[in-house]
Amino acid sequence: MRIILGITGGVAAYKSAELARLLANQGHRVRCILTEAGARFITPLTLTSLTGEPCYGANPDQGEWRANPSIEHIELARWAELVAVVPATANILGKAANGLANDLLSTVLLATRAPVLWAPAMNTGMWEHPAVQANLARLRSFGHAVVEPGEGVLACGEEGSGKLAEVASIAEAIQVHGTPKLRTLKDRLVLITSGPTREDLDPVRTFTNHSTGAMGIELARAFRDVGAKVQLVLGGDLPAPWGVETVRVRSAQQMLEACEAHWADSDGVVAAAAVADQRPETPSSEKVKKGDGAETMVLVRTPDILARLSAVRRADQWVVGFAAESERHLEHASAKLKQKKLDAVLVNDVQGGRAFGIQVNTLTPVTAQGPQPPIGPLPKDQLAHAVVQWWALRLEARESGQ
Ligand SMILES: Cc1cc2nc3c(=O)[nH]c(=O)nc-3n(C[C@H](O)[C@H](O)[C@H](O)COP(=O)(O)O)c2cc1C
Repeated sequence: MRIILGITGGVAAYKSAELARLLANQGHRVRCILTEAGARFITPLTLTSLTGEPCYGANPDQGEWRANPSIEHIELARWAELVAVVPATANILGKAANGLANDLLSTVLLATRAPVLWAPAMNTGMWEHPAVQANLARLRSFGHAVVEPGEGVLACGEEGSGKLAEVASIAEAIQVHGTPKLRTLKDRLVLITSGPTREDLDPVRTFTNHSTGAMGIELARAFRDVGAKVQLVLGGDLPAPWGVETVRVRSAQQMLEACEAHWADSDGVVAAAAVADQRPETPSSEKVKKGDGAETMVLVRTPDILARLSAVRRADQWVVGFAAESERHLEHASAKLKQKKLDAVLVNDVQGGRAFGIQVNTLTPVTAQGPQPPIGPLPKDQLAHAVVQWWALRLEARESGQ
């Protein structure tokens, strides 16, 4: 994405350098615009070095009104696919809410047709002032997004709200706000399961698998980015993604109960979790002592979550499963599709440890029409976006009766 990062005159301006670097590392092109006050807190040299792009605004070499055959504020306004102002002062919020444009950043904000996102930071008294809140309400009414500040000890020594949101959360909000929404998925509720389940043998030993949950988490982010409301049911230890309603579970039974609680309200499910198929028949409340010679553990089947959801699905709901197979994977996936009455199965080839834990992966969709062209190899975040695009196209065809 081509991002204009506006930086205004607050102490939190130093955090914009970290944000600029994070966004650039994620593959975005980032051009910074400093206000005159912003340039008192952070230098253009820092920002240019981190982004590899020019820095604009209050800077003696690249002044706002330098002689230039192009009209810079319009060129930048057109270049941007998203404009984010981080940190945003009370002053810039007031100017933008009222259509004032007396420097490069405020002029770009008025001229651009790109989505705009604000991450305000200021003293608690300023933040709570009705004038600031009214300005924010006005900006929201223009369709702008606001990443609310958090609470904490502020640079002025006061404790309260007004502290710039976490840089990682702002980067996620930029991703969400800058991604075009897909008609077939916007405001739809998508249930996603992800991660391993754990079946305890005793208080210290557990029965699990190599899944980390990374693929399902990236899918949750990708559905969120295109406008879906995501309900994630997550096993494992990875942190929950920002902006996604998440229920944490441990066992297959807990995952089933969480899914059943949300299924009736959902438009569809993507079951990416690697649910342990078996669990110890009688978990022990005390640590099981070792014995002499061979020992036996009796395993029983855990509930088949996908089959249970599919069995009670309505005609308007869709069901997408995952299959991790180490041999004859397309054949097994076709059987799973038919047996559980799924709309699609995304097949992971896990031979030689592929798929689990690695960052680059390929998924082969199998539908009633048979195996489809593979998606990937791609890093899991891009793979998730490609899967969502692929599925949205199929939903569109389904809705138009093709
Ligand atoms: C040390 C210092 C820290 C400041 N921190 C903030 C702040 O966190 N938030 C804010 O809204 N204004 C803050 N201000 C006030 C703004 O810098 C001032 O309103 C300025 O005119 C903003 O200009 P700009 O919006 O064009 O960057 C601070 C001022 C100083 C001197």
